[in-house]
Amino acid sequence: VVLGIDVGTSGTKVIAVDAHGDVQSSASANYEMDVPRIGYAEQHPDLWWDATVQGVQEVVAALNRKGVDYSVESISFSGQMHGLVVLDGDGRPLRPSIIWCDVRTIDEAAWLEQVVGRDRIIEWTSNPPLPNFTVTKLLWVKEHEPEVYRRIAHVMLPKDYVRYKMTGNVHTEVTDGSGTLLLDVGKREWSTQLCQALSVPSSWLPNVVESSTICGYLTEEVARTLGLQPGIPVVAGAGDQAAGALGAGVRRQGQVSMVLGTSGVVLTPTKRPLVDPSGALHSFCHAMPDMWFLMGVTQAAGGSLEWYRETFDAATEATGEHEDAFHVLLRGAERVVPGSEGLLFLPYLMGERTPILDPLARGAWIGLSRRHGQTHLIRALLEGVSLSLKDCWMAMGKQGVTATEWLVSGGGANSRLWVEILSACVDRSLEVVQARYGPALGAAMIASEGVGFGHRRDGVLTWGKPGDKVQGPSDWSPKYERLYELYRSAYVQLKGVFN
Ligand code: XUL
Repeated sequence: VVLGIDVGTSGTKVIAVDAHGDVQSSASANYEMDVPRIGYAEQHPDLWWDATVQGVQEVVAALNRKGVDYSVESISFSGQMHGLVVLDGDGRPLRPSIIWCDVRTIDEAAWLEQVVGRDRIIEWTSNPPLPNFTVTKLLWVKEHEPEVYRRIAHVMLPKDYVRYKMTGNVHTEVTDGSGTLLLDVGKREWSTQLCQALSVPSSWLPNVVESSTICGYLTEEVARTLGLQPGIPVVAGAGDQAAGALGAGVRRQGQVSMVLGTSGVVLTPTKRPLVDPSGALHSFCHAMPDMWFLMGVTQAAGGSLEWYRETFDAATEATGEHEDAFHVLLRGAERVVPGSEGLLFLPYLMGERTPILDPLARGAWIGLSRRHGQTHLIRALLEGVSLSLKDCWMAMGKQGVTATEWLVSGGGANSRLWVEILSACVDRSLEVVQARYGPALGAAMIASEGVGFGHRRDGVLTWGKPGDKVQGPSDWSPKYERLYELYRSAYVQLKGVFN
């Protein structure tokens, strides 16, 4: 087997996959994100490490219990992107990670745009500065925590920290490197121009490799803790969106990966880096050396539902288990008609990226009445998130992207209702793939590619299994077409209230 480890926002998932692509065992450990102020989001890197240790130990124990005769051939990762991890010279985290959905760095992004220059940055990196990108977080630390900044020895991304703990070697890879804004996405190497313009010492930046490169081998000490053999190859991996796309089989132009994870994503592979001049779409390296992708992101997709469950706990606590609580909320929403009887939700709980690029945007239910109850709130939430993904797709349409294959994955894709709503919003049938394992499966594929293990056809792993095609009821699409117009105009009209 190989191990795929997804260092996510709501938890870390570990899966053991055999040479046929079958998941032999899986485990996850959940954690929360800390929101110390509006627009802030942090997690301590040790949360990820502890969750990884727990997950791997559970997976190993389950394989042993099953009596499966296995050896772990390799390990790789998928990880939440953009998070700033800074280590001192002894390899210890200097502060909690400022993670992807943190948008405290509005001033730093504006400074980059105005002083360094938007056009130059796009020329060097293929992307304009946005508060989500790692480099803005590094500039924030420089300005607000100079004593931390002075002690930095290594800068890396969340999954890179977990890999470093396993091997003692510091690396990153091109897909996650893309989301720092410090990478020349076209050349797939650090942008010397931008690093020089910002005086970021090159010694801070890890070697940047392709996703399936072996970065080191499991150390004796960690192997003992995890219950594995020392010396297992540890492969670079990918940012969660590249890994998720790979797991869903989205490798070619003409395919679209939609993800209902904590964040929501619409991604399409491209044969070269394409730049969206409006900045609404990111242009990043894909997990294959000769491919890139365009991606639109909604900040709080599943994250909106996670927030609801955590905040209105009283409504769901009777059900106990985490998964069950979601199930109860989603089942209730099935009873509500499309349009939620005049209730509209804007999912901008963490600001929004594509297409409005407004970190100060905020969430809202609009049109509340005495008739509305929890079931309406949830249905409206599912609809609002789905409309935000339609927004991402519309931004791609503006760049001339066309597609023939539509795949949807991520935790939210376990809900038939949510996928039906999404399908009606984009007015297409969607194939539900790997909803259960998501980017962890992509990580396992990369682990496998890294050591040349597993079944291949035309040099490509053939793990992707066709999923169910889901199409929302035909009379929903025109309703959501109208709701989309309202959704767009609601933001335009509320912008002044948020800012
Ligand atoms: C992508 C993004 C999120 C995170 C967390 O740009 O910010 O998808 O990777 O999942």
